[in-house]
Amino acid sequence: MATSGTGPTEGTPITRLRSAEWYEGDDRNAYLHRAWMRRGVPSSAFDGRPQIAIANTASDLTPCNAHLDEVARSVKNGVYEAGGIPLNLPVVSLGETQVRPTAMLWRNMAAMAMEEMFRANPIDGLVLLGGCDKTIPALLMAAASVDLPAVVVPGGPMLNGHFRGTPLGCGTDVWKLSEEVRAGRLGRDTFVRSESSMIRSRGHCNTMGTASTMAVMAEALGTTVPGVAGTPAADSRLLEAAHASGRLAVELVESGRTIGQVLSRGSFLNAIVALAAIGGSTNAVVHLLAIAGRLGIDLTLDDFDSVGADVPLLVNLQPAGTYLMEDLFRAGGPLAVLEQVKHLLDPSAITVTGRPLVEHLTGNPVWDTDVIAPPAAPLVENAGIAVLRGNLAPDGAIVKPAAASPELLLHRGRAVVFDSVEDFHARIDDPDLVVDATSVLVLRGCGPRGYPGMPEVANMPLPARLLEQGVRDMVRICDGRMSGTAYGTVVLHVAPEAAAGGPLALVQDGDEVLLDVAGRRLELLVPDEELRARRAPQATVAAFAEPVRGWERLYVDHVLQADKGADLDFLVGASGSQVARESH
Ligand code: FES
Ligand code: MG
Repeated sequence: MATSGTGPTEGTPITRLRSAEWYEGDDRNAYLHRAWMRRGVPSSAFDGRPQIAIANTASDLTPCNAHLDEVARSVKNGVYEAGGIPLNLPVVSLGETQVRPTAMLWRNMAAMAMEEMFRANPIDGLVLLGGCDKTIPALLMAAASVDLPAVVVPGGPMLNGHFRGTPLGCGTDVWKLSEEVRAGRLGRDTFVRSESSMIRSRGHCNTMGTASTMAVMAEALGTTVPGVAGTPAADSRLLEAAHASGRLAVELVESGRTIGQVLSRGSFLNAIVALAAIGGSTNAVVHLLAIAGRLGIDLTLDDFDSVGADVPLLVNLQPAGTYLMEDLFRAGGPLAVLEQVKHLLDPSAITVTGRPLVEHLTGNPVWDTDVIAPPAAPLVENAGIAVLRGNLAPDGAIVKPAAASPELLLHRGRAVVFDSVEDFHARIDDPDLVVDATSVLVLRGCGPRGYPGMPEVANMPLPARLLEQGVRDMVRICDGRMSGTAYGTVVLHVAPEAAAGGPLALVQDGDEVLLDVAGRRLELLVPDEELRARRAPQATVAAFAEPVRGWERLYVDHVLQADKGADLDFLVGASGSQVARESH
C-alpha cells in the first residue's frame, strides 16, 4: 500500500489557507471564529495549520457505516501527525436497506447538504468517509462541486458470512433465498435463521454490489490512497490506511491539489475499465455520470459502452460469480485487478498521491486466480455494460451482459406491462396473468421522476408458477434501477422514463419487444403511426408520483434522466469554495 509519504509532487503550493479568512487577524470576526472553537484547543491550532474536515457518514441508522467513528479517530491521528487540525463533520447518511422510498431519492439531497456545509465552514481540506451505496457518490459529488483537496476512505466490506456451510453474500443471497422460498424449496424458518449469518461483521455489503463497486470506483478515479479499497471493515489495515489518508489530506492542502485537479476525463475512463473488470454494479453508471457532471467533465452514457464493453470480467464475485469481498482482498485486492488491465488505463490520470494511477500498478500480485482470473482466461470476454437504444429507449438503456443469461441476450417476446411496483406485486402471481417464460416483463413509473427516486426494482421477481416450472430468468425492462447485488437479463435505466414522456408509457400487454444486446437494440415492434396515436392510459399516468411539497417536489421538478446521472439540473457544475459574506 502506498502511503502519504509519496506526497503530491505537482500543484500550486498554498500561500494563504482558506481557513485564514475566518481565523487570521485580531478583529472582532476573527475573535468570534477562534473563541468558539477554542474549548481546550491551543491557539496554535489557528496559526495557519490546515483545517481538515472529516466528512463522516457514520450513523446507527446506516449500519454499514456505523464503524466510521472509529475510522475517523485514525484519520484524526494522521491529520495531527502531519501538523493539521482534524474536525469531525457528521454529514447526511443513507442506509440503503432502511430509508424509504429509496436511498437514491436522497442521494442528491445528501450531496447538496454536504456541499453547502463544506463551503460554509472554515475548512481547507476533506477526508470523505463513506461506505453504504449512496454515501461515497454523494460525498464525491459534494466535494467536486466545492473543489477542495479531498481524499476518500472507503469504510470497507463485511467479512464473509456462512450459513449451513455455505457462504452467504449480502443482497445476492437474499434475492436467491427468497426465490427459493417462493418456489417452495426452502422453509421460511430456515430462511429467517440465515439473517445473522449474512451480516457477520461491521462494514458494507460483501458482494460486488454498489458499495463495493463505488469503493473501487473511488480508487480507480484516483481519490483514495492507492490500495485501500476492498480492505474489510474489520481489518486493522483499514485503520492504518485511514491514518495515512489523514496525513495525505494535510499534504494535499499544502500542495494546493484539489479534487478537481485530480479528476479528469481519463480518471473516469479508468473507472469504467475497472467497473467492467470487477463486474461492478450498474448503479455506478448514474453515480459516475453525476460526479463527472459536477466537474464539467464530458462523460456520456456511450462512454460506458465504447470504453468498457470489451473489457474482460476478471473478478469472480457475487452477483456475477462466486466469491465475496474478503476473498478479493485476500487474492490481491482491486489494485491487483487493475494491474491486470493496466494496458487499458489512461496513463496520464493522476491520483491524490500526485502520481498517475498506473504508477501504482506494479508489484500487486494475484494470489488466487480462482478469484481474480488472468486476462488470458477471463470469466467473461466482453463484460462491460452495454448501452441499448431504439424506439423504446431513445436516450438509452443499459444491460449488464455478465449478469444476464446468454440465451436471452437476443430475444423477442410479448410484453406483460405493470404501471407501478404495487401493480406488479398485486398481479405477478395472479393465475389469470397471461405470461410464460418467453414473455417480457415491463415495469414503468420507476424512473427518477415517476417513483420518485428511481428505486431498485428492475430485477422483478419472476411469477411463482414459472419458478415452480424451473424458469430462473426472463427478460425484464424498467425505467428504474436494480440492486448492484442483483442478477438476471434486466434492461434498466430506460430513458426517457415513462413519467418524463418516454415511449415506455405507451407499451401495451401483448406488444412484441425485441432485445438484441449484440446489436445494441431495444425495440417495440409496433408501427410508428400506431405509437403516435397511442396515449399513455389514465391508470399509467395516475401511478406517477405527484408530490406536493418538500424535497420530493423539488426533486421531481428538477431531476435529470438516468442517462445524465439523475442529478438535479441546478446542481450540475461547481460553485467553488469561496463565500464572500460574513455572518455578523
Ligand atoms: Fe449498505 Fe448494502 S446495505 S452496502
Ligand atoms: Mg443497493
